[in-house]
Amino acid sequence: MGKVYEVKHPLIQHKLTMIRHKEVGTKDFRALVDELAMLLTYEASRDLPLEDISFDTPVAHTTQKQLTGKKLAVVPILRAGLGMVDGILELIPAAKVGHIGMYRDEESLEPVEYFIKLPEDIQSREVLLVDPMLATGGSARDAISALKARGAQKIKLITLVSAPEGVEAVLAEHPDVDIFTASIDEGLNDQGYIVPGLGDAGDRLFGTH
Ligand code: URA
Repeated sequence: MGKVYEVKHPLIQHKLTMIRHKEVGTKDFRALVDELAMLLTYEASRDLPLEDISFDTPVAHTTQKQLTGKKLAVVPILRAGLGMVDGILELIPAAKVGHIGMYRDEESLEPVEYFIKLPEDIQSREVLLVDPMLATGGSARDAISALKARGAQKIKLITLVSAPEGVEAVLAEHPDVDIFTASIDEGLNDQGYIVPGLGDAGDRLFGTH
């Protein structure tokens, strides 16, 4: 069964509190989203496999650990997920980056995939699927299905703020996926915003409204 990790590191809590303030402008919001994405990735990468390597330091022969060949792909859900990519690549510069675009159909309110481009060896990469806000969970749920349909085998979802409804929706359909989030908030309001949340993450990242 997939697990939800609400990562309560003091730096994460502090930075998340900062971006919840409505007065925070685009430049600071962007920088903090990057930092939060990096800190959450540090936690989400805790189980990456290591192997032994033997070599000479200037002083002695030694055997130490290094990451094994397991490769990663970062996949942001457009558009707000883009705001998390640079922070993750600071930690894992060799990761490949795919993109998934989803919009919400105005009548059915269901997410519709309009764009997908993934590394061609996605089946052999662990995927970090990223989206700052896990609200109803519809986009994340469908993005995970789209990744699995193209062969992705191990997927972790990284979000900044999650609604309990979204967590439940994702895990109900994808019990094999782990979710890493900085906060599980109270819930959704009748306009689909997470409460207390931080507003529209895409608009705040890109300065639109
Ligand atoms: N998407 C956002 O950007 N914010 C919310 O609160 C919910 C969905």
